[in-house]
Amino acid sequence: MTRPGDPIMKIRDVTRTYQVSQGLFRGRRPLQALRGITLDIPKGRVLGLVGESGCGKSTLAQILLGLDRPTGGEILFEDRPIADYGRKVFGSRIQPIFQDPYSSLNPRKTVRQLIEMPLVVHGNRDSADRERRVRRMLDLMGMPSRVIDAYPAQMSGGQRQRIAIARALVTEPDVVICDEPTSALDVSVQAQVLNLLMDLRAEFDLTYLFISHDLGVVEHISDRVAVMYLGQIVEEADAETLFRAPAHPYTKALLASILVPDPHRGPPSVPLKAVQPDAMNLPSGCVFHPRCAEAVATCSVTAPDESVVGDHRTRCVVGLPSH
Ligand SMILES: Nc1ncnc2c1ncn2[C@@H]1O[C@H](COP(=O)(O)OP(=O)(O)O)[C@@H](O)[C@H]1O
Ligand SMILES: [Mg+2]
Repeated sequence: MTRPGDPIMKIRDVTRTYQVSQGLFRGRRPLQALRGITLDIPKGRVLGLVGESGCGKSTLAQILLGLDRPTGGEILFEDRPIADYGRKVFGSRIQPIFQDPYSSLNPRKTVRQLIEMPLVVHGNRDSADRERRVRRMLDLMGMPSRVIDAYPAQMSGGQRQRIAIARALVTEPDVVICDEPTSALDVSVQAQVLNLLMDLRAEFDLTYLFISHDLGVVEHISDRVAVMYLGQIVEEADAETLFRAPAHPYTKALLASILVPDPHRGPPSVPLKAVQPDAMNLPSGCVFHPRCAEAVATCSVTAPDESVVGDHRTRCVVGLPSH
């Protein structure tokens, strides 16, 4: 048994390269979506994973869920490679919640069928027991039991995401991979769904990997935060440290973009140069240097190693202050 705070999942030097077609007669070129990701997911905690669109977050989520395979490296679940687990066993212990509850819920199924599906897949043949579990989940989601025979199209975005959450949790998994679970929802509904996810975490003793493109979303819910840029982790720390003393210029820029400017002090100014990151054409040296406010001459030549102080790490030539 993994103790709380110890890694329940270990991501070890994971790479994923797609071969992308260049069009007729032009062959394929490699796109390095993940370039050596090493990360622990601590049991019973919320690990936030943040980075702009295209940095590789969903690719990593798919690999953790066993829906895609890494090109290199490995994923361990309770210290065993995930390939060693049977598909069914593994599927019941790690569950996804995706961004778009409309496309992830089959429109032809009722709420009852949608939520009980994972139980059926895992061999629960007792329909009365399944019904009890579905009703308990609806109750936990704060939904009236009469929605049990409704279809997804009859529900709002927030209600549909609650159904997706109920379906993810009905098998009582250990780990939930949340890939931008609130990004498609109205702002007013986002906070409700976040609060619900946090309440459920206590109820079910869950471990979350919480993926978002928005550092502001993960701020209040994460115990640890990892920041990703072009297929690498550029900074990782406990949430308090990351928000108080960010080390990487990219983290600083993301942070500046979510701070509410104080009229007396003026807005924080950490510019993020508007160069679109492109995984097909990685810059030389530190891949962040074309956008970096603090870049020096060596940054366009030499890719920085990781520097580590305690459990804070960053990938920048400037390194870390000692805490
Ligand atoms: N199936 C695929 N084939 C080719 N390229 C892909 C595929 N899926 C993702 N990519 C590319 O991999 C990179 C990472 O994508 P993704 O993991 O979806 O990022 P994120 O979830 O952070 O937005 C992007 O450059 C994207 O275009
Ligand atoms: Mg994504």
